[in-house]
Amino acid sequence: MFVLTSTKTDLAYQQCINPSCRATFTVGETYFACPTCGDLIDVVYDWDRLPVPSRLSDFEAAWSDRLNPLNFSGVWRFRALLPFAPPEMVVTIGEGQTLLQTADKVGQYVGLNPGRLLLQYEGMNPSGSFKDNGMTAAFTHACMVGARRVACASTGNTSAALAVYCSATDHGFKAIIFVGSGKIAYGKLAQALDHGALTIQIVGDFDDAMARVRQVADRLGIYLMNSVNPFRLEGQKTIMLRVLEGLGWEVPDWIVVPGGNLGNSSAFGKAFIELKHLGLIDRVPRLAVINASGARTLEHLVGQHGLTWCNGLPDMSVAETYYAGLDAGKIKASTIASAIEINRPVNLKKCLRALDFCGGVVRQVSDQEIMDAKARVGAGGLGCEPASAASVAGAKRLREEGVIAPSERVVCILTGHQLKDPTATVAYHGTDQDNFEKVLGSRGVRRAGFANRPVVVANDLDDIIRTIALYSEDATGD
Ligand code: F0G
Repeated sequence: MFVLTSTKTDLAYQQCINPSCRATFTVGETYFACPTCGDLIDVVYDWDRLPVPSRLSDFEAAWSDRLNPLNFSGVWRFRALLPFAPPEMVVTIGEGQTLLQTADKVGQYVGLNPGRLLLQYEGMNPSGSFKDNGMTAAFTHACMVGARRVACASTGNTSAALAVYCSATDHGFKAIIFVGSGKIAYGKLAQALDHGALTIQIVGDFDDAMARVRQVADRLGIYLMNSVNPFRLEGQKTIMLRVLEGLGWEVPDWIVVPGGNLGNSSAFGKAFIELKHLGLIDRVPRLAVINASGARTLEHLVGQHGLTWCNGLPDMSVAETYYAGLDAGKIKASTIASAIEINRPVNLKKCLRALDFCGGVVRQVSDQEIMDAKARVGAGGLGCEPASAASVAGAKRLREEGVIAPSERVVCILTGHQLKDPTATVAYHGTDQDNFEKVLGSRGVRRAGFANRPVVVANDLDDIIRTIALYSEDATGD
């Protein structure tokens, strides 16, 4: 594949995560699985020889130099903690201008004391999801190794981000994306098409598309942008750095994140492992990874079967048996949170490592809980897509179980923008019963919830005024 000359004594290199293998590669090599044993690969750094800030607040110096694209980027202003690329190779489109917002109304719904729930809004990225954090890093690596054709399988957001990075940059990147037909939300499909990606809709779901894209990338030597690409996760570490930044460098008690392919949770774990190792934080937050109940591999393996990291040697036969059962029963992932409709998470092992290091817990939430939480998030001011709301629904669950205390400081990651999936939102709030049944009722979601119905009124001034008066009485509680 693509090779760049450098040596394994470099300050940054790649390493297989399997302790009985530990094969190393230069950052100039491109593998999406260890060529020796097939396991996942990490980007690792020789921290002793790298200049690392002595305090996290040292990163604030970048704020006053926003004309430098590397300091403007919410990813690359932390480049000292992902130092694998020469600065002139960095591919950035200004990602990571995100927001950490205290959300008391949502906090009340979750059951937390005022000021204790914060939402990290990744929908503000250029492509509308957290994926841009990873794409900027993986595109930078693609640039370093001279790749031009880039591909991914996606439930929609990875493909949208990939299409945006290809179309917004001048490196001649060509986007090839694989999606399950009828499986991705319209907002995301719209992005892939509008930004000019070759969009291949295969008959099947994400897990099928993921298996295919790996074969195609291998056969045609195409650069793979899924989160098996370890450079993607380097960029996604910075979501945690921005959370700490938003908290004045204080560590929260909990990070709650939806789990799909488990790239984000893996990246968050790696961020905290490195920050702790470097002495930049003195304690680690607990991590909660939330599956949708229709795609709950992690919850099943960890919660029901006690699968753990086990110092890098987890008993993967438990997962193989589970997958064989899914295949035998022809069971496919199915949830309204289409972004996390995934049964075979490629980063499972790295996520186990994150859970181990961060005292993690895993939960599953129903489509009802997801859609209700999404409506509360929207009413609280920040719009998100269904998968993102799994984090809030999960926090509520953990609060009810007493795992999270009302006084703890909890950060839920809102991974994607509300407009990604208008179909789910309109079905939930709207008055069209057939549409509701088709989109949500068929998944066991009930009509009630927190729907904010549109009001149909005759085109008549008195009727309109009467309607507003009624609404105002409701609003004031008169
Ligand atoms: N939330 C959103 C909005 C997502 O798009 C995804 C993943 C996740 C959460 C789960 O994150 O995979 O790191 O555990 N979307 C991928 C995609 C799979 O193809 O867009 P994860």
